[in-house]
Amino acid sequence: MAVPPAVRRHSVARVATSVNFDRIAHRYDATRGGEERGRRVAAALADRLPGERLIDASLAVHVLHLVGDPGAVLGELARVLRPGGRLAVVGGGELARPSDVGAVLRDLRADLDTARAREDRSGALPALAATHGLGLVEEFTFPREERGILSPREAADQVEARVWSHLWDLDDVMWARAVVPALDRLRALPDQERPRPGDRISTARLFARR
Ligand SMILES: C[S@@+](CC[C@H](N)C(=O)[O-])C[C@H]1O[C@@H](n2cnc3c(N)ncnc32)[C@H](O)[C@@H]1O
Repeated sequence: MAVPPAVRRHSVARVATSVNFDRIAHRYDATRGGEERGRRVAAALADRLPGERLIDASLAVHVLHLVGDPGAVLGELARVLRPGGRLAVVGGGELARPSDVGAVLRDLRADLDTARAREDRSGALPALAATHGLGLVEEFTFPREERGILSPREAADQVEARVWSHLWDLDDVMWARAVVPALDRLRALPDQERPRPGDRISTARLFARR
């Protein structure tokens, strides 16, 4: 996604280190490092970043919800940032406009989050970051229009195929208890082929390394 201007404002990177491993890795030879327009680029797993205390700014955009241990990744980001260095975290956000499909997906997500504590979710993130020496300095929302609009049938197909990361590691009991009723609700909605609005409001949080 495009980095919003308010995030970019804080991102004067001397050395760019990315937590987006595969996109960087396929463009650069990770074993030899790479040079592009005078910047050093390194590829690494998010919980084993190179360098120490020399990064000015780091972005984690749609990443923390995918890592096994968000606390460990925040600890690594804090370790490689210089004192005063900035970290911007952007998550998936919420649907901007209500819809019947959006309500089912929101309820399913809330149900799963209640059953499994999610350290990367909005409320918990600043407290977790603080334990790693990252203090919240700014928080703002911005519209994001990249997510495709979904019809009830498409939404049900995507849930069934476990397209979204919060569905990846569910056991059979959780699937039967939370997902099957959500699929039933989606399949009972009217106008199965009519797309509903899919634009989202994302939250960006900027942290400073103490
Ligand atoms: C949803 S994509 C977001 C990519 C990019 N930041 C963007 O906004 O377009 C998540 C990315 O995180 C990467 N990723 C997931 N777990 C990772 C880990 N443990 N270490 C490094 N990268 C990871 C994936 O490979 C993927 O490229």
